[in-house]
Amino acid sequence: MGKGMIKVAPSLLTADFAYLGDTVKTLTEAGADWIHCDVMDNVFVPNMSFGQSMIQSLRRVTHLPLDVHLMLVHPDKYIGAFADSGADVITVHTESHSGIHLQRLVTSIKQCGKQAGVAINPATHPDAVEFVYEDIDLVLVMSVNPGYGGQKFLPQALRKIEYIANRAAQLGKALEIEVDGGVNLANYKSIRDAGATVLVAGHAVVDADDPAAVIATLRG
Ligand code: DX5
Ligand code: ZN
Repeated sequence: MGKGMIKVAPSLLTADFAYLGDTVKTLTEAGADWIHCDVMDNVFVPNMSFGQSMIQSLRRVTHLPLDVHLMLVHPDKYIGAFADSGADVITVHTESHSGIHLQRLVTSIKQCGKQAGVAINPATHPDAVEFVYEDIDLVLVMSVNPGYGGQKFLPQALRKIEYIANRAAQLGKALEIEVDGGVNLANYKSIRDAGATVLVAGHAVVDADDPAAVIATLRG
């Protein structure tokens, strides 16, 4: 997809959780397109964040789509809960235990009336999504090993983005390609050029002096 179709989805992970409502309001006013919510179970990744009650609370403070990234071993058990909490996009990992039945998992998200995403870790081949393109709206390319905000972008993510963008074009598939981890003002151009359509940015936006300026630059 070409320029002008980029969405910016600030991640809340590095924010001060005591003030998340205020942060989401600020990001909404600053021009964010989606709010990226990282849900972690301390098993799939070595960190814990928040669950569906937080999504429910954040739903009340913004009209923006809530982009919920589930880093859980058993996301299948929580799809209904997150759908009910007001998530708009629900993304699950191929590497999760429920990823054994990925097609069933993403179908259950669609059946809840939500957009379905599949996330792939840095070492996972993009062909992991080859036979679910029909069933999904989004592929999330992890450009760090998930678990923490503020990590360094892994450059091999660029050829993975290109690979997925080419495959989507071959299939004539309208697909969001979301990139998550270490996106910043120094590397966003190469990420967009590779074919990304949604840029997640935690540290680069949330910890900036002027989040609105960073969002505007990333979206270009
Ligand atoms: C990593 C999370 C990311 C991350 C993004 O586990 O999924 O959303 O927090 O934050 P930055 O942009 O700081 O890498
Ligand atoms: Zn994320």
